[in-house]
Amino acid sequence: MSEPQAACAAATQATAHPLDPLSAAEIERATGLLGSARRLGPDDRFAMVRLEEPSKAGVLAMSAGGRPPPRRVFIVVLNRLSGTSAEAVVDLSAGAVVSWHPLANAEAPYGQPPVMVEEFFRCEAIVKADAGWRAAMRQRGLSEAEIDLVQVDPFSSGFFDLEYERGRRIVRAVSFYRADPKDNAYAHPIDGVVAVVDLIAGRVTHLTNGPVVPIPKKKRNYDRASLPAPRTDLRPLDLVQPEGPSFSVDGWAVTWQNWTFRIGFTAREGLVLHQLSWKDGGKTRPIVYRASVTEMVVPYADPGPTHFWKSAFDAGEYGLGKLANALELGCDCLGNIRYFDVAMADDDGRPYTMKNAVCLHEEDYGILWKHYEFRNETYEVRRSRRLVISFFATVGNYDYGFYWYLYQDGSIQLEAKLTGIIQTTAVAPGTTYAHGGMVDEGLGGPTHQHFFNVRLHMMVDGEGNSVSEHEFVPRPFGPDNPYGNAFDTTARVFARESEAAREADGRTGRYWKITNPNVRNAVGNPTGYKLVVQPSPLMLAQEGSFVRRRGGFATRHLWVTPYDPAEKYASGDYPNVHAGGDGLPAYILKDRPIENRDIVVWHSFGHTHVCKPEDFPVMPVEYAGFTLKPNGFFDANPALDLPAGGNAASIDNRTGEGGDCCH
Ligand code: CO
Repeated sequence: MSEPQAACAAATQATAHPLDPLSAAEIERATGLLGSARRLGPDDRFAMVRLEEPSKAGVLAMSAGGRPPPRRVFIVVLNRLSGTSAEAVVDLSAGAVVSWHPLANAEAPYGQPPVMVEEFFRCEAIVKADAGWRAAMRQRGLSEAEIDLVQVDPFSSGFFDLEYERGRRIVRAVSFYRADPKDNAYAHPIDGVVAVVDLIAGRVTHLTNGPVVPIPKKKRNYDRASLPAPRTDLRPLDLVQPEGPSFSVDGWAVTWQNWTFRIGFTAREGLVLHQLSWKDGGKTRPIVYRASVTEMVVPYADPGPTHFWKSAFDAGEYGLGKLANALELGCDCLGNIRYFDVAMADDDGRPYTMKNAVCLHEEDYGILWKHYEFRNETYEVRRSRRLVISFFATVGNYDYGFYWYLYQDGSIQLEAKLTGIIQTTAVAPGTTYAHGGMVDEGLGGPTHQHFFNVRLHMMVDGEGNSVSEHEFVPRPFGPDNPYGNAFDTTARVFARESEAAREADGRTGRYWKITNPNVRNAVGNPTGYKLVVQPSPLMLAQEGSFVRRRGGFATRHLWVTPYDPAEKYASGDYPNVHAGGDGLPAYILKDRPIENRDIVVWHSFGHTHVCKPEDFPVMPVEYAGFTLKPNGFFDANPALDLPAGGNAASIDNRTGEGGDCCH
């Protein structure tokens, strides 16, 4: 490292908050230190580089005036020739490698570091050089020139305990015809051909060549030139904040009215929110210590050879953060935008900057509270405004937006936006597609599910939190219910992990609360937040199936664990080519106590997607998510202090005049 670089790294360390994402200088220094200490060579790759977050105790001690914890970097190294990999931790403060653990990924239950960007290209080159695959393409009527133009998608392979899967670093490659490089290849799936590519051996180790189905050739492009003439009756809609936004940003720390939090970002999870707190009078009240989406899986429900194995774990097998978009001003986010650039490591461990990866802005959100009292003409109304913290990741054919919303009444919401292009399949003329919906002539979309899991390290008013389940139960007629109108709300506190792996139930209105039994509100109850879930499916794949074992987190809506820094991801550390059983179902086997503890709440939610013509060629956004709502956290409506007064820019459309403001 040159002297200016070293000085820059030192300056970064001196000013970095322990939870700040790694800077480019820190990434360079960490991969450099590891490279020299372990004598890494040109065939070693950096499959994952992230901040090794300090312990919660260390961060809280620093906030209370103690010394900052050491700044550490977690790195997964993969040798592309041997296929061996190892986890390392580099201490930037000490300038030393503090741990190096080879991964046992040759032994059951296996598991591989995530698919790297360079492997996308290597996969395509290996497949196109394979004589068997080329023959399968010729069998489908493609010329040599057309074969060279075929789009090869490296799909994370899944696992079915086959010889060529065990301990191997493989992807399964699927192919799409293109008339030219700009063509939307997903309109032209080449069905029945799946190449298993061993990325270490550098060859196709298994080729499925199923029945020949005609390739749908109709063009379904969505670039501007291919689309119909745009509608002409739209006039500008501007979000104008003449005095600027109401948030303030200091490094990665954000303050917005009573809210304070820190923005984090990792290669696997993408956006992370740290230390979400609410300033209540002179006091800062913690609510969530850390929040992120740690996994999402998309299992496909078509038993045919092209699809049965598809079950991409987009966070653990690729990395939602690594695949984040550079957001465009006025397109992805509207209004007065504060972007955050994020430093990321490439496959060679070199830092690069992801421009505009995270977007922060405010939005109007209709009415927050209102009442008109006709007897005395009291008319009070307050508009709701929300703070939006978001990022978008493109994982192959799909695009996912992750939007966190903070509201003025203390609510916290996560909305996942699902868009992009569906996986497709060729359907022979005259046949009916039994495992999905048709989206065009000869073109079907296999039915599939999308499951997300959010990890919420809770901290409602402090460390000791509990989770309770509540249900509505009808009360029979009797002396205590003479009119039959009364019903009861049950409550039970989960004592251990085994009790807290739960399904939602709309019929009983089942809901869950996270409370602090050590802090009471004005009516004498523990302060708390309610987890408001949306109607959401669970994993429909059969008990005993590999995908159910690998994506076990999606078999329950709720899981609660005591905080263990080693338990980071709903699907476990290395879901790629993993036999399954890791993650939440394994974590809770210890059946630890969870009452009045430092706890993590994990919520699985998602969407079952039956494809339809409207999904093609690019699908309109589908939504999935949840809300955390204050429930006895405050002693009254916390938004009574919102200023009255209307929006001066609003006009009466009939007269063009401004309003006379609110009552
Ligand atoms: Co879908």
